[in-house]
Amino acid sequence: MDNILIIGASSGIGAALAQALARPGRTLALVARRNEALAMVAEQVRALGGQAIPLACDVTDDQQVEFTWNQLRSLLPGLDTVVYCSGIMPDVGPDEFDSVKDRVIVETNLIGAMAWLNRAATLFLSLGRGTLCAVGSVAGDRGRRPGPAYGASKAALHTYMESLYNRLYVRGIRVVTIKPGPIDTPMARGKAKGALFPVDLAAKRIARAIERGEREVYVPAKWAWIMGVIRLIPPTVFRRLSI
Ligand SMILES: NC(=O)c1ccc[n+]([C@@H]2O[C@H](COP(=O)([O-])OP(=O)(O)OC[C@H]3O[C@@H](n4cnc5c(N)ncnc54)[C@H](OP(=O)(O)O)[C@@H]3O)[C@@H](O)[C@H]2O)c1
Repeated sequence: MDNILIIGASSGIGAALAQALARPGRTLALVARRNEALAMVAEQVRALGGQAIPLACDVTDDQQVEFTWNQLRSLLPGLDTVVYCSGIMPDVGPDEFDSVKDRVIVETNLIGAMAWLNRAATLFLSLGRGTLCAVGSVAGDRGRRPGPAYGASKAALHTYMESLYNRLYVRGIRVVTIKPGPIDTPMARGKAKGALFPVDLAAKRIARAIERGEREVYVPAKWAWIMGVIRLIPPTVFRRLSI
């Protein structure tokens, strides 16, 4: 793992992950829409001895993705790891059913992930090595009342990643799915109930999962058993709960 691409690196989990992975001898390509925020993360990576290549791109625009991917391939020919962190979770009211809003959520959280990871999978297949990682969410494990499109985008992302794992494991490519609970980032602040898990600790755990090539990791770990219990709740009981 010497040449790592993080998509969604300008903020929150992606920015903290860039710091957790930065070290001398490693190059991190950092993708998101906001140039200034990316430049700050790039400076943090360099301060830790790594090299950084910030590249602005909107993942919902396939032409930009194609252009940035080609740019990246010439700037970082030895790319060996791709991590998809980009995501949005806009507020959705209890009586709101807005297809325009839902489309943007799915395009960012799911279609954007496929656009990057399909390209990376094709490259890594030709090399017979590489690591693909995507950040899903515990919200994808069950259809909760808040954020139907967000939960659906994450559930679909998990299934897509499981398929990639099943297709690529035998071809020498590692596929890692991260399922975070509430993490202290701009996305979750003021929205999640209860305490938020520190983002630097989450990033360290995600970095370890990527380095070890773990298949599926809940962050923090307690969410594995919390979701294990929540998955067992019958629909007739679950519909009464406000979680
Ligand atoms: N925080 C939590 O509690 C939590 C829990 C479970 C899962 N997650 C997941 O973790 C991932 C990271 O979220 P976060 O909490 O770190 O949120 P965040 O701080 O809001 O970061 C979101 C990242 O996504 C990027 N992004 C959003 N729209 C984009 C677009 N159209 N094109 C390119 N990049 C885009 C943002 O960059 P720009 O705005 O610069 O484009 C930013 O770097 C998301 O997939 C989220 O669903 C978070």
